[in-house]
Amino acid sequence: MQAVLLEIHSIFRWLILLLLLLSVIQSFTGWRKSKELRSGDARLWLFTMVSAHITLLIGLYLLFFGRYGVLSAGLPEGVHLMKDKFYRFFWVEHPVGMVLATALITIARGVVKKQIRDPLKYKRAFWLFLLALVIILAVIPWPGLTVVGRPF
Ligand code: HEM
Repeated sequence: MQAVLLEIHSIFRWLILLLLLLSVIQSFTGWRKSKELRSGDARLWLFTMVSAHITLLIGLYLLFFGRYGVLSAGLPEGVHLMKDKFYRFFWVEHPVGMVLATALITIARGVVKKQIRDPLKYKRAFWLFLLALVIILAVIPWPGLTVVGRPF
């Protein structure tokens, strides 16, 4: 079950990156061309948010109950959380960065409901999605990273 969840969590990175990239492009285009908000764009932002929330839920499960889980395994003897690259990454940097990015994606999607002009909605959503994308790219355990790198 744990291995399956880790696999899903890993695969979802591609879905999120794709949807987020599309959201960034759509919102930028909508902003620069002063478009009216299209229902297709609002739906894309919703899917982006839902996929981020699913990944967040699985991530929380892995963080607390996974093979290196805070509650299931705990910190090995003699390891200091902030001095150990592996645990600092998977217990602090990755979760904090991803929770922040998910919050930004949620706020960006919420822009749809704001009582403001549509081009302004696109502008706000663009900056929020872009920031979320940068954070996610920065805290994914990409292959090749020392100690924390994972395969594609
Ligand atoms: C957009 C959100 C996220 C993305 C794209 C993402 C991506 C990834 C990837 C690619 C891995 C490596 C998977 C593998 O080894 O095959 C991973 C592992 C992990 N992620 Fe995330 N993650 C996200 C959110 C989160 C959140 C919010 C948490 C915790 C609150 C979290 C906790 C973990 C943990 C604990 C692992 C290591 C699990 C293990 O090796 O047993 N992730 N994540």
